Amino acid sequence: MSVIQIRGGRPLSGSVRIQGAKNSVLPLLAATLLAEGECVLHNCPNLTDVDHTLEILRSLGCRVKREGDTVTVDPSAPTGYTISDTLMREMRSSVVFLGPILGRMGRARLSYPGGCELGPRPIDLHMASLRAMGARIEEQEGHLECLGGLTGAEIVLSLPSVGCTENIMLAAVRADGVTTVHNAAREPEIVELQDFLNAMGADVRGAGTSMLTVRGGRPLHGAEHTVRPDRIVACTYLSAVASAGGEGEVTGVDWRQLSTVTSVLTEAGCRVKSGPDAIFIAAPERLKAVRPVRTAPYPGFPTDAQAVVMAALCKGEGATVFVENMFSARYRHVDELARMGADIRVEGKVAVVCGVPALHGAKVRSTDLRGGAALAVAGVGAQGETLISGVYHIDRGYQDLCSDLACLGAKIVRLNTTKEEI
Ligand code: UD1
Repeated sequence: MSVIQIRGGRPLSGSVRIQGAKNSVLPLLAATLLAEGECVLHNCPNLTDVDHTLEILRSLGCRVKREGDTVTVDPSAPTGYTISDTLMREMRSSVVFLGPILGRMGRARLSYPGGCELGPRPIDLHMASLRAMGARIEEQEGHLECLGGLTGAEIVLSLPSVGCTENIMLAAVRADGVTTVHNAAREPEIVELQDFLNAMGADVRGAGTSMLTVRGGRPLHGAEHTVRPDRIVACTYLSAVASAGGEGEVTGVDWRQLSTVTSVLTEAGCRVKSGPDAIFIAAPERLKAVRPVRTAPYPGFPTDAQAVVMAALCKGEGATVFVENMFSARYRHVDELARMGADIRVEGKVAVVCGVPALHGAKVRSTDLRGGAALAVAGVGAQGETLISGVYHIDRGYQDLCSDLACLGAKIVRLNTTKEEI
């Protein structure tokens, strides 16, 4: 097994290029299933979640090739309509395949995604939306049996779910007629999916606003696309500089997508300068507490950045309140941060971070993807050695966290070890 070893407590200095976005590449890969010809995706991050998604495509009969960061999918002769329990369990977001499998194959079978490390992960909106488009969905012994024959529909989402909006788009491009989604998610990943679907010949409009329109039934051909940079990975590295002090630069990013996070870091005392393709940050010796940070759908403060920004503010002067509005169990990193000397109290969806003058290194365990990254953010700012286990969580979303943070000047390595050693 692997652990991450960090020798923290020294200021950072350096520059790092940001990988392709995990949350973009997963729906884009699901979209390839809809094409009649070969699709090519460049800048695909090397992540276990991507491996699992490619595995799903193979299990559905697609020919998949990966060369460096380019993935080629030939979906011209799909054979399957089932996602195995194992693959569903590995990655609950594989529910985003429901729409495209139904659209392409006319039927789909997958297991019901239960709870996950962030709490219950309901898919009621996905099911209601696909039913509104004419899908017949039955739950049988933990499985979903779905039959297609989809037609366009008018769908009003009670909340702007990202995965659900993607599922609807992926189903609607193959459905007959027009689908309109009200209260659609507005995340940049939705815009990217629209751009890719349109490059395949679809007619999708309105992404980035709350109302999406899909004119379905157009023939879809192969397309080529370069996956856009990962805004959450960028937030993680900016937070690392804020945590350790010093200065650093993340390149290849669109600053507008990070503005809610950079404004919090600015309020905490960092100097942030955004250019067309890069963000520079210089951190003060000690951060200061900021006004309450409330997670919200885009363009609000991203839930995925809550843990990493919290990790930086553990050493801020004063108390910062976090309100997690998106997921019910997203403070599991708090107990691990406490092992490093952080003073955080959690009550329901609220966490109060009382800044301490210093953190110390400790043996800690990743509890989930962003919670694991938060431990690295805290580790680079903590005095002494931090050892992070449960690295597989981090591998789901960070292509090479250690090399990237090393580019920013951190003393960080990945060690292979036996369980008894840690
Ligand atoms: C996506 C991101 C994830 C991010 C989240 C919120 C991917 C692969 N994952 O997850 O990193 O944290 O957006 O920005 O892109 N909900 C329901 N019923 C549903 C669907 C969702 O109640 O049918 C609820 C969820 O429990 C959650 C909220 O809606 O409380 C938002 O979830 P959603 O936007 O769907 O997140 P995901 O698409 O799963």
